[in-house]
Amino acid sequence: MPNSSPIGIFDSGIGGLTLAHAITELMPNEPIIYFGDTAHLPYGDKSATAIQAYSVKICNLLLEKNCKLILIACNSASAAAYDLVKAYVGTKAIVVNVIDPVIQFLDQHWSGKMLGLIGTKQTVNSGIYSQKAEALRKDIHIKSLATPLLAPMIEEGFFNHTISEQIIKENLLQPVLQNIEGLILGCTHYPLIKKQIDQFYQGRVDVIDTSLIVANEIKRILESEDLLNKGKAGDRQFFVSDYTDSFEKSTQIFFGETIKLTQFPIWDW
Ligand code: DGL
Repeated sequence: MPNSSPIGIFDSGIGGLTLAHAITELMPNEPIIYFGDTAHLPYGDKSATAIQAYSVKICNLLLEKNCKLILIACNSASAAAYDLVKAYVGTKAIVVNVIDPVIQFLDQHWSGKMLGLIGTKQTVNSGIYSQKAEALRKDIHIKSLATPLLAPMIEEGFFNHTISEQIIKENLLQPVLQNIEGLILGCTHYPLIKKQIDQFYQGRVDVIDTSLIVANEIKRILESEDLLNKGKAGDRQFFVSDYTDSFEKSTQIFFGETIKLTQFPIWDW
C-alpha cells in the first residue's frame, strides 16, 4: 500500500463528515475518499443484515480506489458490520471502526466510573459498547439510551435551537441516564449538539466527543505502519449514493465548509 493512497471513510449519510473533518484537521496532507450512503440512510433503523450488505458494497468501491485504511465512520455500521467488513477486506486495507478506539480511551480514563451512552436504536440495541468492554475484561460501566430523534433533527439543521434544546432535555432526563459521570456521544452526528448537551449538564457530566479520539487513533495506526502521506496534500473526494442539493448544503454543518458531493453511479443495490 503506498503512503499516498487515500483514507476511505464511510457513513450512512453525511454525519460521518464530523469525523472526516477531525481527520483533515489532524492530518491535513492525507488524501480522503468519503462515501455517504444517502440512498439508504438512516442506518440506525435498519437490520444488521441490510447494514452489512451496504457496508460490503461500499468497501468494494473504496478498495477499487486503493484506500490504505477504511474507517467505518458510523456507530450503527461499526456495531452491525465491522467483523464482517474486516474479514472481507482482509489484508487489502486496514479497517477501523468508531467503537474500539473509544473503548481503549474509556479504559484509560474512565475505568470504574458510571457512563451513559446515547446513539441510534441499532447501536444501543446491539449492546456493542458493553460487550466489547466485557470481552476485554475492562472495568467500564455503561448505561445506554437509544435517541432516534437526534440524528434526523440534526440533519434537518435543528441544533442550537429551542426545539433541539427541548428534545435533548427530554432524552437526557430519562431515568436510565441518571447518576452518570460521563456521557459518550455514540453517533457521528452528535458532535453537532455537544454544546447544547454541555449546556444542559452545566459541568455535572463530562460529554465525550468521540471524533477526536478516533482521529487520533487513525493517526497512531498510520504512523506505526509507516503509512502517513509524506508527499504534498492529497485530494479530497466526497461521494454519495443519492445526491440532492439539500445534502450538499448540509455538508456545511458537518464539515465546516460546503463540499462538492458527487453522485456515485450505483443503482443496483
Ligand atoms: N451516523 C450514524 C451513526 O453514527 C447515525 C445515523 C443513521 O442512523 O444513519 O450511528
